[in-house]
Amino acid sequence: MTEHPEVTPTPRPGSRLAEQTHAAADDQVDVMAISPVREEGMLEESTADSPFGPDIVAKAKDLIGRYPQSRSALLPMLHLVQSVQGFVSQEGITFCAEQLDLSEAEVSAVVTFYTMYKRKPCGEHLVSVCTNTLCAALGGDAIYRRLAEHLGEDGRPLGHEEVAGTPGERGSVMLEHAECLAACDLAPVLQVNYEYFDKQTEESAVELVDALRRGEKPQPSRGAPLADFKSVELQLAGFFPEEEDAYRADVDGPSRAVETVRGAQLAADRGWTAPSMPDDAPLPEVEAK
Ligand code: FES
Repeated sequence: MTEHPEVTPTPRPGSRLAEQTHAAADDQVDVMAISPVREEGMLEESTADSPFGPDIVAKAKDLIGRYPQSRSALLPMLHLVQSVQGFVSQEGITFCAEQLDLSEAEVSAVVTFYTMYKRKPCGEHLVSVCTNTLCAALGGDAIYRRLAEHLGEDGRPLGHEEVAGTPGERGSVMLEHAECLAACDLAPVLQVNYEYFDKQTEESAVELVDALRRGEKPQPSRGAPLADFKSVELQLAGFFPEEEDAYRADVDGPSRAVETVRGAQLAADRGWTAPSMPDDAPLPEVEAK
C-alpha cells in the first residue's frame, strides 16, 4: 500500500469568481483577503504548471457547447478532470470553476456530494464492492473484508478508498465499499471501473484483484471490456473514439443477465401483457414558469 501524495492547493485567478465566493459566504467575511490566491507569483506558477493543457481545454469547451447553460457541464467536466489526474484535485476544482464561471465553493460542493468523484488519487482500477443489504447478506461484507485484508500490508487491512500499489500505475487498485449497484438479482456483486462482476465469492474476488495487480484485465460478467479508470472517466465525460469499430469495441458487450429478464421472459412465455395506456389518459397540469 502506498501513501497518497500530499495534494497542494493551488491558487485560482479570477476576481469575478472571487467576488462570487465572497458574496456567497458572507458579506462580513472577506474570504479572498485571507486566501493565498492573492499571491500573484503563485497564480503564474499555477497557469504554467497546469495539467490541463490545450487539448483538455478544447474538450471542456466542447462539453460546455453541449448545454444551454455552461454550469450544466459540471458533472461531465469533473469526469474529464478525473480522466487527466485520476481524481479531482484542487487544480481540477479551479479548472472547472474557471471554465464554467462558477465559484470554487460551488464546484467543491458537487465534488464532495457524489462518491464517483475521488478526492485522492485512484488506482489504475477502482474496485467497488457492494455492501448494501442484499449483497451484504449474501456475502458482500465478507468479500469486502477479505479484499481489504488481502490488499493490505503488514497486517493492516486496506481502508475505504485506499490504494494498493502506487496510484495510477499499472496494477494499482483502489478499494471502496459501495451502496447498491443496481444488480441485486446477481448478488453479491462488485464492479471494476464500473463494469460488473456478478455472483462473487471471497475466492473469486481475490482471484480478480490478483489478476488486476498483475496488470491483467479480466472480462467482466457483462457490459463493455475492462478499461483503466482514467479511460473510463473520459467515456463518462462523453468522449468516445470517432471511428465506429473502435467505438463499438470500447462500449459494446452483452448487457443483460438471464436473471434480470426472468420476469419479462415468464410473462412472454405465458402470454401476459400489461394493459396499454389509453390514448385519452389525462396528463397532469404543467405549471407555467
Ligand atoms: S444490494 Fe448489492 S446490487 Fe443491490
